[in-house]
Amino acid sequence: MASLAVDSPGSAASRAAQRAAVFPRVRWMGSKHRLLPHLARVFDELGGRTALDAFSGSGVVSYLLKHQGYAVHSNDYLGFPAVVATAGVVNHATRLSAQEVGRILGPPADDRDFVRRTFSGVFFTDDDLAFLDSAWSHIDGLRGHRRAVAIAALCLAAARKQPRGVFTLTGDLSRYDDGRRDLRIGLREHFVERVADYNRAVFSNGRPCVATSVDVDELEPGRYDVVYLDPPYAPPRDDNDYTKRFHFLEGLSRYWAGDTILHGTRSKKLPKRVTRFSSRRTIEEGLRDVLEKFHESTIVLSYSSNALPDRDTLHSLLAEVKDHVEVRAVEHTYSYGTHATATRRSVDEYIFIGR
Ligand SMILES: C[S@@+](CC[C@H](N)C(=O)[O-])C[C@H]1O[C@@H](n2cnc3c(N)ncnc32)[C@H](O)[C@@H]1O
Repeated sequence: MASLAVDSPGSAASRAAQRAAVFPRVRWMGSKHRLLPHLARVFDELGGRTALDAFSGSGVVSYLLKHQGYAVHSNDYLGFPAVVATAGVVNHATRLSAQEVGRILGPPADDRDFVRRTFSGVFFTDDDLAFLDSAWSHIDGLRGHRRAVAIAALCLAAARKQPRGVFTLTGDLSRYDDGRRDLRIGLREHFVERVADYNRAVFSNGRPCVATSVDVDELEPGRYDVVYLDPPYAPPRDDNDYTKRFHFLEGLSRYWAGDTILHGTRSKKLPKRVTRFSSRRTIEEGLRDVLEKFHESTIVLSYSSNALPDRDTLHSLLAEVKDHVEVRAVEHTYSYGTHATATRRSVDEYIFIGR
């Protein structure tokens, strides 16, 4: 097995990775932000014009692919990742002006108070919650990429202000206050800064890009030169439920329109979305079908050594559909975790390439 080196600083891959690193960062479980230089090198070697990022999450890999000149299709079954990808990947030119930001910060356009009524005492201060209602009263009138940038910035503001970025923690969270500015400033101030982050990230690579939010099983095969798969990990002793951790961002990304909040829960969460990737029992079968579906494309698959199924199983699954399978290992230290023991655990991150 090859161990993966990062390219020399002046190479095209390394320039793309550096540019992609400006993508507004959200603490998404399994985010590949730190792997950008390694992935950039792989994509650079593979070439091609069209790429699918089938489990896009934070959107950072889609954004990297865009920097590497691909026409990108970014997909995740959650809605929040699609908004983020619309703002930063599909959007080639739209930035929010100071005037538009000023309007969103100004007096509310209507008297909605759903966020404050629902989440008072659960997350944030009442002032912050009132701002989310008020901001949405203006965002509802926006359309297209403008709307996506505003929503993405609002969600990122909430993600940054929430300790550890996960919405399983509720109530008095003062014990998590380590003095970090992100936890202290209000959501309004965050919003202004996060809009600036998105505005900075916007660029055009001249290729049509799209974002969808459907189950991977619903995607059509056969249209991509490169397919990047970063499925949800199935850790041996925890779950991989994204809705449980990020339900507030998911709801906020559409002002909970059409959502059924579980009012009996402490965090007022949304129902879990169960797919074959949600359980250790069915993930292997789910992966086999996805690999079969994309067998005509070059497949790049991320996986980590503390996840299930194990490396050998994945290798054989990929070898069922591809003649040539290569595995590259990257030493990687996660900074994410809901428990002290889960933070900064060093794992081997693998990049499988099937051609
Ligand atoms: C490991 S994360 C991807 C991280 C991403 N590459 C990044 O750098 O941020 C896995 C993603 O798969 C999504 N997901 C889970 N089950 C899915 C399904 N059945 N179809 C599509 N996406 C799914 C989750 O919402 C999550 O964002």
